[in-house]
Amino acid sequence: MKFFVDTADIGEIRDLAETGLLDGVTTNPSLVAKTGRDFIDVIKEICSVVDGPVSAEVAATDYQTMVDEGKKLADIADNVAIKVPLTMDGLKACRTISQSGSMVNVTLCFSPVQALLAAKAGASFISPFVGRLDDIGHDGMELIEQIVDIYENYDTITTEVLVASIRHPMHVVEAARLGADVCTVPPDVLRKLALHPLTDKGLAAFLADWEKTGQSIL
Ligand code: G3P
Repeated sequence: MKFFVDTADIGEIRDLAETGLLDGVTTNPSLVAKTGRDFIDVIKEICSVVDGPVSAEVAATDYQTMVDEGKKLADIADNVAIKVPLTMDGLKACRTISQSGSMVNVTLCFSPVQALLAAKAGASFISPFVGRLDDIGHDGMELIEQIVDIYENYDTITTEVLVASIRHPMHVVEAARLGADVCTVPPDVLRKLALHPLTDKGLAAFLADWEKTGQSIL
């Protein structure tokens, strides 16, 4: 499974990119607004740090302006993935932008039939928001299971399932067990994936016993 980080904070992206575990980045208008920086500058800098897909979302809601904005965003760098909302105009723009050769990430997906339409529109990625479904008492991971099951029925579907709106490590566990292609994870949750108290306890015990040997490896 691929791991993307869900942030526009360049400091977090640089820090996590150095781990070698980062396969891409997703942003959205809210995450970009949090940086207080110019949108184009932020995406340009992120693309210079991460080689994998970097999602940059259009702000328009009408087809033609989405396409025009998509062209401008695609010109920033070859690894820009144009993010469009899952609306009829967004699906139409997805078709046009994907046919022009750019990656498209169709976002704000909350149902399996929406995901089916995004695949038909040529999406490179579909972004189902699991956390926001959980937030209102629905089962976000059930949506992932439905989408993976549906996509597996059609060899012609190449759209990657990009699990978004992740709230905690168990979302990542379930997404991996279901066979999702990508998880886009907030920086703090991404760091939590490596943590376990028994690892810390075991390492402390190893180091204490090594100290007693009085030896050093170098
Ligand atoms: O990439 C989509 C993601 O940023 C949405 O997450 O936490 O706003 O539901 P959240």
